[in-house]
Amino acid sequence: PFEAAIFDLDGVIVDTAKFHYRAWKRLAGELGFAFSERENEQLKGVSRMESLDLLLRAGGITDLTAEQKEDLASRKNEWYKELLETLTPDDVLPGVRSFLGRLHSRGIRTAIASASKNAPLILEKVNIRPLFDVVVDGNSTARAKPDPEVFLQAARLLTAEPAACIVFEDAAAGVEGAVRAGMRVVGIGDRELLARAHLTVTSFEQLEPVYLLSHIGIAGY
Ligand code: G6P
Ligand code: MG
Repeated sequence: PFEAAIFDLDGVIVDTAKFHYRAWKRLAGELGFAFSERENEQLKGVSRMESLDLLLRAGGITDLTAEQKEDLASRKNEWYKELLETLTPDDVLPGVRSFLGRLHSRGIRTAIASASKNAPLILEKVNIRPLFDVVVDGNSTARAKPDPEVFLQAARLLTAEPAACIVFEDAAAGVEGAVRAGMRVVGIGDRELLARAHLTVTSFEQLEPVYLLSHIGIAGY
C-alpha cells in the first residue's frame, strides 16, 4: 500500500525550472557560447556545482580554477534569485494544491525532495510549506540526484518504506535517483526524456490519486 508521496520542487511544484534555464543561459552568453533548452535538460535535478560543470563542458571550457567556478556559480545564483523574487502563490503549478489536499485527505504523508539550496525561500514565496510534512533539500544532503540519498532521507523522515513511496519528478536525474531508491516514479513532462518513470503525465490536473494509487503499483502499467 502507498503511504507517502515525495515531490521534487523545481519544475514539479513550482515552474522555477525556466528560471534556472534563463540564468544558466545568461551565464553561457557571458562566457561566449549558446546554451539550448535541450542541453539544459541534463542540468535539471543536478546540484548547482555539477550543473556548472555540465554547462562548462557544453561550452568547451575546461581550464577554470575552483575559485573561478565558485564565482560563476554564485553569479548564476544571484540572477536566479532575482527571478525568484517575482514568485507569488499563483506560480504553484496547476492542480498541485488540490492534488496535495486529496492525498492528505486519504492519509498519505507528503515530502519535498529537492537538490536546491534555495528550496526554503521558494516554498516561502509561494506559501506552500504547510502542505508538506517534511522538506529535504540541498542544505541537508551531500550527494545530488541521481544518487538516491535525498529520496531515502525523505522516506526515513516520513517513516515510510521506499516501496511505499511514490516520487514525482520532472528531471531524468531525479527519476533515476528515485528508481535507485526503490520507489515508484511518476514523471511530470516528456515521456521520452523520462523514459525510466513508471508513468508519465504532463500535469497534476491529469492525476486522480485514487486511480494513481491503485494503478501505479501494477507491473507493466
Ligand atoms: C534543482 C534544480 C536544478 C538545480 C538544483 C540546485 O534540482 O532542478 O536545476 O541546479 O536544484 O539548485 P540551487 O537552487 O541550489 O542552485
Ligand atoms: Mg525538478
